[in-house]
Amino acid sequence: MLRSHHCGALSSKNIGEEVVLSGWVQKARDLGGMTFVDLRDRYGITQLAFNLESNSELCMAARKLGREFVIQIEGKVIERSSKNAKIATGDIEIEVSKLKVLNASKTPPFTIENETDGGDDLRMQYRYLDIRRNPVRENLILRHRLSTETRKYLDAQSFIEVETPYLIKSTPEGARDFVVPSRMNEGQFYALPQSPQTFKQLLMVGGIDKYYQIVKCFRDEDLRADRQPEFTQIDCEMSFIEQEDILNMFEGLTRHLLKEIKGVELQQFPRMSYDDAMRLYGSDKPDIRFEMQFSELNEVCQQNDFVVFDSAELVVGICAKGCGDWTRKQIDKLTDFVKRPQIGAKGLIYCKYNQDGTFKSSVDKFFSQEDLAKWAHKMGAQKGDLMFLLSGDTDKVRKQMNELRLEIGQQLGLRDPKVFAPLWVVDFPLLEWDEETQRYHAMHHPFTSPKPNDIAKLDTDPAAVRANAYDLVMNGSEIGGGSIRIHDKDLQKLMFKHLGFSEEQAKDQFGFLMNAFEYGAPPHGGIAFGFDRLCSLFGGQESIRDFIAFPKNNSGRDVMIDAPSIIDNSQLDELHIKLK
Ligand code: AMO
Repeated sequence: MLRSHHCGALSSKNIGEEVVLSGWVQKARDLGGMTFVDLRDRYGITQLAFNLESNSELCMAARKLGREFVIQIEGKVIERSSKNAKIATGDIEIEVSKLKVLNASKTPPFTIENETDGGDDLRMQYRYLDIRRNPVRENLILRHRLSTETRKYLDAQSFIEVETPYLIKSTPEGARDFVVPSRMNEGQFYALPQSPQTFKQLLMVGGIDKYYQIVKCFRDEDLRADRQPEFTQIDCEMSFIEQEDILNMFEGLTRHLLKEIKGVELQQFPRMSYDDAMRLYGSDKPDIRFEMQFSELNEVCQQNDFVVFDSAELVVGICAKGCGDWTRKQIDKLTDFVKRPQIGAKGLIYCKYNQDGTFKSSVDKFFSQEDLAKWAHKMGAQKGDLMFLLSGDTDKVRKQMNELRLEIGQQLGLRDPKVFAPLWVVDFPLLEWDEETQRYHAMHHPFTSPKPNDIAKLDTDPAAVRANAYDLVMNGSEIGGGSIRIHDKDLQKLMFKHLGFSEEQAKDQFGFLMNAFEYGAPPHGGIAFGFDRLCSLFGGQESIRDFIAFPKNNSGRDVMIDAPSIIDNSQLDELHIKLK
C-alpha cells in the first residue's frame, strides 16, 4: 500500500503515530522557516509541515512542488499550533520525514477549488480534473449512494435486476432513436433503446414478476438542463398488480431514499389528476412546495368591454401573497419576463389590494372597484396582496401562467431546494393530438392501458380517453413515469389501430410483443425513474450534468473525447455507408 491512512482520516487521536500518506498537492505556502503543503485525496485534506531548520533539503524539495503533483510522504502526526475547525483533520499536521514525488503535473487550466475559475466548457474538456473538486465528487458519491439504496430496497422487495440489450430495433414512437449500422447485415441498423420498455414487458411474460434495472437509455432529442442524450433510469416492472400497488411500492422506494440519504421522513404523497394539475397549475408537473394556485376568472372578468379579456378563451389569475408593496419596476420586470418569446404573453395585468381596502390595477379604466373586489374574492386575495392576470387560448395561457408562478415563487424564495414536495399526477390522457402529423400519438407509449370504462370512447372521443398512467413529480420536476400495460392482444391491436398503425406496420414493428401476448401475458405495469434527475434533486440543483461523471454538452458533444467524430473511409465501407 502506498498509504497507511487517507487524507481525511487523522485526528488528535493519532498524535505521535508514524504515517504514510499519498495524494495531490492542493497548495503550498512558504512562511520563512516553515513550508506547509495541503495534501488532498478523495477523503479530505491533511496539512504537511516541513521545517527548514531541522531538514533543509526536504523543505527545499517541498518548495518545488507544484499544484496537483502526486506525492507520497512519511512522517509523524503532531498537534497543530493554529487549529482549523473547518476541516476534520484541522487539529493535526504531519511533520514530514520523507517525501517522494510519484508524478509531476502541469499547472491545471482552472483552480481545483470548490468555487473554481473554470468555465463550463473548460471544466468539461478537463472533466477528470473537475472530478477532483469537492462539489463534483460529492455529487458522484451521492449518485452512488442513491443507486446502492435503490438496490437495497428493491432487493428486499424481491425484485431482480435483469440486463436487457442495447442493440435493438428502431421504432417510430417516442423520441428520435440513435441508430447503429450493422456491418454483417448490409443496409440494416440497430437502434439504442430509448428505454427497455418492451423487454421488461417480455420479462413479465417470462414470469419474472418483479424486475428492475438501473439502465442507460438513449434519446436523440433537444437537450436542456434536465435532459441528456444518454441518461439513466431506475426501470421497474411488476406482474399481478394494479395501479395502486405500483404507486405504493415506488412511493415506498422514494420515501426510503429520502430517509436514508436526506434524513427526511414524509407522509403519504398527495395525488392529483392530470386535469386538476393543468387547471390549478398549468403544468403536468406542478411544484407544490408553494400554493399560488390558478383561479379561472372568465365569470368576473369578461363582458366589461375590455376586449383583451372578452376575446379570450380563458382569463386566469394568481395571487402573490404579501406582494402589494411591489414597485412598478418589479412589476414591469415580470411583464418583460412573460413577454419573452419563449413564454409569449402579450402583456400582464396586475391588481394591488391596498392596505386601505382599495384596489389599484393596470386596467382601472375598464374595471370599477366593485369589479376588482370580485377578482380578489375569486382569488382569495387579502389586503396587501398582488394579483396577476393573463388571458388567451387555454393551453397557451396556462403555460404562460405556470412560468410566471414559478418565477414569482423563485423570487419569493418559495422554491427551497432543501424542501421535498412529491406529488403523484394520475389519470393522464391516453392520446394526444399531434398537429404536425395530424394524428393521435400515445401520450405515454403505445402499451399503456386505457381506463376500462373509457375504452368505448376510443372511437367517439379519443381525446377524452384516460389512461392508467401516472407520473411522480417532485419540486416541479418529473422524476418518474409509468403505467399499467395492455396485456390483451386484441386491445393492443385496437390501440395500434387508433395510433394510425396498419396491421402490417404493427406486426412489423411490434410483432414480437404481440406474439408473446398470445402465450399468457400476466396483467402487469411499471414505472421508470429518471435517475439523473433524482440525483440532481437530492443534490438540490437544477442541472443533471454535474451528477453524471462524463456528460455531453448542449449540442450533444463530449468535448473531452471529442465525440461524435468522423470515421475512416475504410470503416464506412465496411458498414456499407456512403456519405453524400
Ligand atoms: P419516460 O419516457 O417518462 O418513461 O421516462 C421515465 C423518466 O426518465 C427521465 N427522462 C430523462 N432524464 C434525462 N434525460 C432525458 N433525455 C430523459 N428522458 C426521460 C424522466 C422520466 O420521468 N418506459 C417508460 C417508463 C414506464 O412506462 O415504465 C419511460 O421511459 O425523469
